[in-house]
Amino acid sequence: SYPTLEIVQDGAVRHVRLNRPDVRNAFNGQVVEDLQAAFAEVDADPSTRVVVLSGNGKSFSAGADLTWMQEQASLPHADNRAGAERMARMFLAIARCRKPVVGRIHGHALGGGTGLTAAVDIALCSDDCQFGLTEVKLGIVPAVISPFVLQKIGVGRARTLFLTGERFDGSEAMRIGLVHRAVPIGSLDAAVQQVVGELLAAGPAAVASAKELIRAVGALPLEDAIPITATWIADLRATPEAKEGFAAFLGKRKPNWIG
Ligand code: COA
Repeated sequence: SYPTLEIVQDGAVRHVRLNRPDVRNAFNGQVVEDLQAAFAEVDADPSTRVVVLSGNGKSFSAGADLTWMQEQASLPHADNRAGAERMARMFLAIARCRKPVVGRIHGHALGGGTGLTAAVDIALCSDDCQFGLTEVKLGIVPAVISPFVLQKIGVGRARTLFLTGERFDGSEAMRIGLVHRAVPIGSLDAAVQQVVGELLAAGPAAVASAKELIRAVGALPLEDAIPITATWIADLRATPEAKEGFAAFLGKRKPNWIG
């Protein structure tokens, strides 16, 4: 159990819920520590196949807790920087988790809340959800979340959104690639369930490999990718999971990881 999170296990699905609703799930040092530990734990748990990250209460997350940010700013520079690096590594733990991470985003996802949305693999949001890289409105910048956000929305869109700090809704978040789908709030849980169902119907090792594949080849020139991708599929199609997947299809039955 974690002081700032609610964790619920539902079969092979682990729900990690931010649980500081009174401050709209703003995250402080304790949340950073808890999320880091919770994602390390789920990473190593063989019985969990999918993680769903969400927020309890009115909003997914109002980003960094500004009281905590103020405290951090008053520390000696080395301690101030160390706290920022711990926060960056928390986002990395989510992005690099070997289990697919689905985000259920509602209400507000501002600053670091937009960062968390970018760090998960598949984000689903309510169409009225409010996003924003609002840091400049506070006199700071979205520094530690920038690599995660840039990977999802690209440099061009960041040039507007990082500089203006303007808020945008879920439909716009879908248009710019920050989220996979935006749906009415009443349909959000069903949309999450649908994606979780797709992930559970896929081979567990294949899903982990797919995530790693994107990391390995995403930034490579096409020519440089060939030795890596050829070896990748040669290795993977000889695994027991692939053999089972092929045999199940050809035998007109379900693979053994379903049901
Ligand atoms: N850090 C610390 N406290 C925060 C917070 C944050 N990022 N966001 C909200 N809170 C606190 C508020 O101070 C308030 O505390 P109080 O009840 O003691 O007054 C409480 O959470 C509820 O917030 P409130 O603004 O009253 O709720 P709301 O539902 O009307 O609005 C938000 C929610 C998220 C739109 C609004 O709180 C907001 O804009 N927060 C800042 C978001 C931001 O810019 N984040 C970037 C951080 S780098």
